[in-house]
Amino acid sequence: MSIENLNKINAKQLISVYTSCGTDKVKFAESYAKEFLPFFGKENLKIFEIGIRDGSSHRAWSHIFTNSKIYGIDIDERSLNQLGCENFKFEIFDQGDINKLQNFAENYGPFDIIIDDGSHFVEHMTTSFECLIDYLNPGGIYVIEDIGCTYLNDYHNDAKNMSFPWGQNLNKMESGNKRQDFIDFTEKILENIHISEWPKGREGKLTEKSDQVYEKISQYKNIIFVHKRKDIGE
Ligand SMILES: C[S@@+](CC[C@H](N)C(=O)[O-])C[C@H]1O[C@@H](n2cnc3c(N)ncnc32)[C@H](O)[C@@H]1O
Repeated sequence: MSIENLNKINAKQLISVYTSCGTDKVKFAESYAKEFLPFFGKENLKIFEIGIRDGSSHRAWSHIFTNSKIYGIDIDERSLNQLGCENFKFEIFDQGDINKLQNFAENYGPFDIIIDDGSHFVEHMTTSFECLIDYLNPGGIYVIEDIGCTYLNDYHNDAKNMSFPWGQNLNKMESGNKRQDFIDFTEKILENIHISEWPKGREGKLTEKSDQVYEKISQYKNIIFVHKRKDIGE
């Protein structure tokens, strides 16, 4: 597959790559086209996506970000058979296993882009983020897909009945999705972005610019993008 100008990828081109690779990310093409602008045309990136299924999106990223290394994990062993290519590094484990996730990131990170398209359980979204954010490079982007699932209290049972994507029923989580947990999670990110504007902070919370980790959070229908500051640690 060839994309004419990798510096100027637009939603239409993304749709074409996503469609030919078979990923359902077509629904997010507009938002990916806007948010990934800083990375289009760049090479030698490290991209880690949780949730492989048949490898469609990992394949798509390898077409979009040439000469880059694509990482993935999935709970379902069938995913491993989907791709064999030296640019890919896949492992099988549950994203809820924080020790394994951290080991993976320790071995292969830091990454430029991390995408959570795994279980879509709030608990996993938040624990994976908290574990992996330290392994995201300055200026990197952390994406969480299918936020709509946070509105499904009974997502555990809904997921069991899904025939597609495969493997959602392998998830052992028994707890329901709690929307409030997701709201609290995003509020923490927002607070981190805004509060350093006030030198003494509020209620004793963080006060220094150096404590600010995130540049911005962008929200679109069913997906969020968290941008890490470029100048962090300078
Ligand atoms: C929506 S599919 C991923 C699709 C793929 N990223 C794409 O866009 O083509 C979700 C995947 O997450 C995997 N998954 C579900 N629960 C998981 C968990 N707890 N840890 C890791 N992967 C999980 C499923 O097996 C499934 O393959």
